[in-house]
Amino acid sequence: MDAIICPSILAADFANLERELGRIASADYAHVDVMDNHFVPNLTLGLPVVERLAAVSPIPIDTHLMIDDPDRWAPGFAEAGSASVTFHIEAAKAPVRLARELHRLGARVGLALRPATALEPYLDLLREIDMLLVMTVEPGFGGQEFLESTLPKIRQARRAVNELGLDVWVQVDGGVSTSTIELAAEAGANVFVAGSAVYKADDAAAQIAELRSLAAAHRH
Ligand code: DX5
Ligand code: ZN
Repeated sequence: MDAIICPSILAADFANLERELGRIASADYAHVDVMDNHFVPNLTLGLPVVERLAAVSPIPIDTHLMIDDPDRWAPGFAEAGSASVTFHIEAAKAPVRLARELHRLGARVGLALRPATALEPYLDLLREIDMLLVMTVEPGFGGQEFLESTLPKIRQARRAVNELGLDVWVQVDGGVSTSTIELAAEAGANVFVAGSAVYKADDAAAQIAELRSLAAAHRH
């Protein structure tokens, strides 16, 4: 399985989003962080913006919802054209029903866990989803330091997915850079979100290529 690279536009120039999407055209997905100032203490962008991003993006959109009440709001992000919609387990009331609704709307489904949320109680949900997002920082802001304390959970996720014989991707998000991506890859992640690392680089395409080859070299 090749490494999947998802630059986060949270670190992009918000006044020029179409151009900023063009800089990451060699990546696999554009990661879009939706924050509601309730689930996390930060506010970013919402449905009308995601709809336009999906319309103009050269690559598919990976929407990461850091919002309360995803049961109510997440389906709209699938309808807006997100190829993948990830919601947080801490915020969902009926995750199985929501996952099935997102699938019905044609999106891939991701389930996200904050750093302090254990995977164990949710292992049964792996059969309902396409991707498990193990947050490697506390959600809310870009530019934070990768939390190595999350590595055991990445390993546990990879083990569970393999033991169950599922094709569920394991995504990491937060503090992923050329110096931390190998830790996550070795632990079993195969999908990598990187905001600052890609957008603060002079040559975003070269950075994407380097992240991809480091992840491949340290593949689990
Ligand atoms: C944080 C967001 C991340 C963020 C990552 O809550 O979910 O996607 O953009 O940014 P970096 O890569 O800078 O840590
Ligand atoms: Zn994110």
